[in-house]
Amino acid sequence: MGVELRANNLIKRYGARELFNIEELKVQEGDSLHLSGDNGAGKTTLMKILAGLDKPCSGEVAVTPNMKSKWSTRLHPKVVYLHQTPYIFSGTVAANLAYGLKLKGLANKQIKEKVSHALAWARLEELADHSAHSLSGGEKQRLALARAWVLAPGLLFLDEPTANLDQQSVTSVADLIDKMLEGGAAVMVSSHQKNPVTELCYRQLLLSEGQVTEFGHQRKVRHHA
Ligand SMILES: Nc1ncnc2c1ncn2[C@@H]1O[C@H](COP(=O)(O)OP(=O)(O)OP(=O)(O)O)[C@@H](O)[C@H]1O
Ligand SMILES: [Mg+2]
Repeated sequence: MGVELRANNLIKRYGARELFNIEELKVQEGDSLHLSGDNGAGKTTLMKILAGLDKPCSGEVAVTPNMKSKWSTRLHPKVVYLHQTPYIFSGTVAANLAYGLKLKGLANKQIKEKVSHALAWARLEELADHSAHSLSGGEKQRLALARAWVLAPGLLFLDEPTANLDQQSVTSVADLIDKMLEGGAAVMVSSHQKNPVTELCYRQLLLSEGQVTEFGHQRKVRHHA
């Protein structure tokens, strides 16, 4: 069963400035959303709040199944947020992929298998033993996606996943995100402009002047494997 998220009456303020006040936002299993908005509109802040990494001043984010609670409880294990600049741990590419699996307490044999699948999934096999910090921007983004994929996320937040990437890397990243969607994950992508990743999205949201407006919703249903 997939993950569903519902946010109600989310208000975020910085000092006297109200960044946004969002009455309702729902993300359902199989959804793919493009969150657009100008620089500074609040996209990163909103996605972090939805992912449970930041707190609203008031309002609630509920994720089902498993959890129906206020933001202050633990992060939902099926919700993953990828930073605008991929966060890469020191150590090898393979070690980066193993990191979350170790935290989950998987046996070494299972970790090895999953890491090798993830390397193949993101076509990073040849870089497995390289220091992750030495990767190019595009390779780091693929590594970040593979590290998310290996944890089988139900809902994935991608903050500007193609910023600073060349055309070829954008295409590879879009292919990986498409595979995530085919696998059944719901995905929300923030980007201030259209690109091959946002073209994968069926729901179009605009964050502007503190409000989210939905337009161009296409009811295309994905057939999951
Ligand atoms: N901790 C903070 N304290 C005060 N203001 C903040 C803080 N974090 C963010 N802001 C402000 O909130 C606004 C929204 O920031 P946010 O990073 O969410 O925008 P964004 O839509 O993601 O922009 P971009 O397209 O440039 O990534 C900005 O004006 C920013 O300066
Ligand atoms: Mg941002």
